[in-house]
Amino acid sequence: MKPAIRLNNIQEYYFSKKLREVENLKNAGKPVINLGIGSPDLEPHLQVICATVNCMQQTGSHKYQSYRGIPEFRKAVTDFYRKQFRTDLNAEDQVLPLMGSKEGIMHISMAFLNKDDAVLIPNPGYPTYSSVTKLLEAEPVYYQLDESNNYQPNFDDLEKLNLEKVKLMWVNYPHMPTGAHASEDTFVKLIGFGKKHNIIIINDNPYSFILNDNPRSILEYSNIDSNILELNSLSKTFNMAGWRVGMLLGKASLLKEVFKVKTQMDSGMFYCVQKGAVAALGLPRNWYTNLNDIYAERRKYIWKIVEKLNCKVTNKSAAGLFVWAKLPKGKTSEEMVDELLYEKSIFVAPGTVFGSKGEGYIRFSLCMSKEKIVEALNRL
Ligand SMILES: Cc1ncc(COP(=O)(O)O)c(C=O)c1O
Repeated sequence: MKPAIRLNNIQEYYFSKKLREVENLKNAGKPVINLGIGSPDLEPHLQVICATVNCMQQTGSHKYQSYRGIPEFRKAVTDFYRKQFRTDLNAEDQVLPLMGSKEGIMHISMAFLNKDDAVLIPNPGYPTYSSVTKLLEAEPVYYQLDESNNYQPNFDDLEKLNLEKVKLMWVNYPHMPTGAHASEDTFVKLIGFGKKHNIIIINDNPYSFILNDNPRSILEYSNIDSNILELNSLSKTFNMAGWRVGMLLGKASLLKEVFKVKTQMDSGMFYCVQKGAVAALGLPRNWYTNLNDIYAERRKYIWKIVEKLNCKVTNKSAAGLFVWAKLPKGKTSEEMVDELLYEKSIFVAPGTVFGSKGEGYIRFSLCMSKEKIVEALNRL
């Protein structure tokens, strides 16, 4: 049976394939330390677990839930945004709960893209933006982000592109994989650019609370008429990646279209997961400080690994769960990754997973215990 034509340009996700290779090495007795993947290893807060577990025996918990999420969860999201980002969003129609922000990338794309429409995608960037675009037979148009410009979009270059067919632009600040922050100027210019060219700008914002003194949302800078959306997630901030909880926020009329797609795809989020999410969004300040103290400590040892490898940390004040390191001249990302994997049993991600502009870089994850990171350091 021939698969659909739309799969012609799609490969299995890099990590899905590479992690099988890593697993085979482990099964063959290699003590592989996985510094490749951004899946938080720390636990959610006990209050989150209790809120979820306690609701398991409540009558009605196991039914299908509303497609829009329970009102308590939507309100918890808008309260969280108000507190963290000073936005004033309406819990009725300016927030849509999602099963992870990755789901949102697909739903937004399905809601707005026709075959042959074009989408602006950061290079380097999260690979899902381009794979979803290709799945829908739309055209990815890459905009280049450069270390020399602290990975901010170059608006002169953007203006030179043929933007006629562009309907969506993916933006992701704090940026994965580099950890770059958007300047205020970048957000303001992005909003103006979207307005000028009638493009929906979506900021994918799952990393704003990790190693970041100044969390920002693009929604702080936009007004209610702008075609601006933001995705957020509980995966990284609250160590709940496997729970699959995220949200889409912004202009109600855009959310309404995304909602039409979503109602065809799932039948609501498990009630107890929503109760856990409400508890997470209400956690006090020290949740964030404790979490970030752990990541900051781990990062110090990753920086030492980077130094040992004659690489260079690109930005010591980067946000997010990763360290983005520049390789010494003469080595490709994949050569470096295989050398580390096969000679030292250390797995890191090659920059090329994130696009051609990732060549010459590797990405280290902070989602590993300090002890294991030190063990990796001692192997070098
Ligand atoms: C930039 C970016 N966006 C979205 C996601 C997906 O997050 P979620 O778990 O909310 O689907 C990730 C996860 O790695 C990510 O790095």
